[in-house]
Amino acid sequence: MDVESVSPIPAVLITGASSGIGAGLAREFARRGLHVALLARRADHLEILAREIGATGGRASAHRGDVTVDGDIAGVVAALARIGVVPRIVIANAGFGVVGAAQRLTIEDYRRQFETNVFGVLRTLRESLAALESTRGRFVVMGSIAGHLSGPGGSAYAMSKFAVRAFAEALHGDLKPLGVGCTLVSPGFIDSDIRRVDNRGGLHEHVDDPIPAWLRMRTDEAARVMANGILRGRREVVVTFHGKVIVFFARHFPRLTRWLLVRANRGARPEPRRRATGD
Ligand SMILES: NC(=O)c1ccc[n+]([C@@H]2O[C@H](COP(=O)([O-])OP(=O)(O)OC[C@H]3O[C@@H](n4cnc5c(N)ncnc54)[C@H](OP(=O)(O)O)[C@@H]3O)[C@@H](O)[C@H]2O)c1
Repeated sequence: MDVESVSPIPAVLITGASSGIGAGLAREFARRGLHVALLARRADHLEILAREIGATGGRASAHRGDVTVDGDIAGVVAALARIGVVPRIVIANAGFGVVGAAQRLTIEDYRRQFETNVFGVLRTLRESLAALESTRGRFVVMGSIAGHLSGPGGSAYAMSKFAVRAFAEALHGDLKPLGVGCTLVSPGFIDSDIRRVDNRGGLHEHVDDPIPAWLRMRTDEAARVMANGILRGRREVVVTFHGKVIVFFARHFPRLTRWLLVRANRGARPEPRRRATGD
């Protein structure tokens, strides 16, 4: 995609940019010369990141916002318009994971998961679509390998990621007449804080990531792969080797994959922080 041709200042708006994948994508797009508009609830983290990007010659703006609140994304789009910036790419990345066996989770746990991971994505599209239409841009949905495969302890998170995968699939046709493209990003295990965040969204900074380091992809490497796929206008970008293997087996050998997943989780504690379902 030629990001220079339409908007005078090519820009990307990223939700959930205060840590992990969102922050990695911000650094990557800034390095490629785009203005990066950073949105999350922790404004202090965003300001530090914006200053870091500015110090290395990039352009970034920090915007406090919550994807569960109507109007926050529209507010950022309006603030950008006032400085002559219109997003060419919008990345609906903000998210977290609710874990636990279905019989132990409450309806409220599922609702909370959907409010951020599903309705947050929907809200991000609705409030940025006019801008994307004007730039004939691209909407990016952050899915997961868990949007292809659901396992024990992962029902709430996988339901949310299956839902946004379905959303992204429908968007290809819906947005085409508007000249807006759509990319689904489906990562496996990536270095970030996601596995340190509890079911209520609280961060426990000192908790070790239960996924072994050898299985996690570095955030900067993942961001580079994602940015390449987005700028090439790909419909889906599956990130990590293990992610590609899981998607292949889930698609072509679903019964075998389910059997392996249940076996892998046999003997697990009833309330694991994370099981191996993609993330
Ligand atoms: N890391 C992985 O292994 C992995 C794998 C597959 C998919 N993913 C997906 O990647 C996305 C990013 O997660 P991550 O791994 O980078 O985790 P992370 O380091 O915990 O980052 C999550 C980001 O989302 C933001 N966020 C959460 N709730 C929000 C809300 N209501 N409004 C605005 N921002 C909100 C957080 O910022 P504030 O707290 O400051 O608001 C933070 O910037 C998620 O959608 C996740 O499901 C991650």
